[in-house]
Amino acid sequence: MNRNPKTPAVTVRVPAKVNVQLAVGPARPDGFHDLANVFLAVGLYDEITVTPADELRLTCDGPGSAEVPLDGGNLAARAATALAERTGRAPAVHIHIDKNIPVAGGMAGGSADGAGALLACDALWDTGLSRARLLQLCAELGSDVPFSLIGGAALGTGRGEQVRPLPVGDSFHWVFALAEGGLSTPAVYREFDRLAAAAGRPVPAPVASEALLRALRDGDAAALAAAVSNDLQPAALSLYPALADTLAAGTKGGALAALVSGSGPTTAFLTDAATAPAVAAALQDSGTCRAVRVASSPAAGATVTKASASAR
Ligand code: C5P
Repeated sequence: MNRNPKTPAVTVRVPAKVNVQLAVGPARPDGFHDLANVFLAVGLYDEITVTPADELRLTCDGPGSAEVPLDGGNLAARAATALAERTGRAPAVHIHIDKNIPVAGGMAGGSADGAGALLACDALWDTGLSRARLLQLCAELGSDVPFSLIGGAALGTGRGEQVRPLPVGDSFHWVFALAEGGLSTPAVYREFDRLAAAAGRPVPAPVASEALLRALRDGDAAALAAAVSNDLQPAALSLYPALADTLAAGTKGGALAALVSGSGPTTAFLTDAATAPAVAAALQDSGTCRAVRVASSPAAGATVTKASASAR
């Protein structure tokens, strides 16, 4: 008998990410690109709460929630459906997303919601699936979803879905500049292919930078600043030229490094702990972005933060 009158509920907190290295290889026959993708989870979070319902239902609030699709294509809905299928039950849950990660911003907000919904449903239904099986399901959902589950720092290879955790010696401090509107990830990869073809040079196989991995391991912000790179940046700038002004404003404001976050259009600025507020103020005052956020890394991956007694 359920002695707890409260509806069972599970809440999971999931971080955003920045790619400190995004090395992109040539397009593969399946349309994806092989990557050497160094992910770093940052302390900006979405919260996903699941409760039993008659049928799958999705709601969302928070900044930018109006742009979040609430249909079956949403990664959170797809995650619940996939886990229900694999474990022989109906995806009868209400998923609520409390959105703080920029939408379509290159910070894996959609992937975070997929990993969060998967972990929350796993706890609600007490599926007993191993971590390895959950990671495999994440990889089927999207290239960035496994990293959202594990968090911290990791090297993603293949299309980014094969993740190996990396050691990080100390906290890094970031300012993120949010842009008006979003960029479509497939469109940015297509632009990468177009620019590569136009340059007439073969695209080399992606390789992780030893200097960058060392900088992470040593917790050395100056060395990390010298090593960050994003092969998608020229493509993102080609589709969204005004991002160059934001990058310049952050650099002028004292950032150690400035780069487009993933496929953009969010831009990321590595700072010292002491200078983050000044860099944030400079970006805000520059009028080249919609909003700024300050966050540090690494951050823990998807974590159950609340589970009512009757949920287990
Ligand atoms: O895996 P995910 O669904 O997040 O990928 C979205 C799109 O981004 C893909 O359909 C593809 O166009 C592009 N992509 C890519 N190579 C990768 C990851 C994503 O071309 N490694």
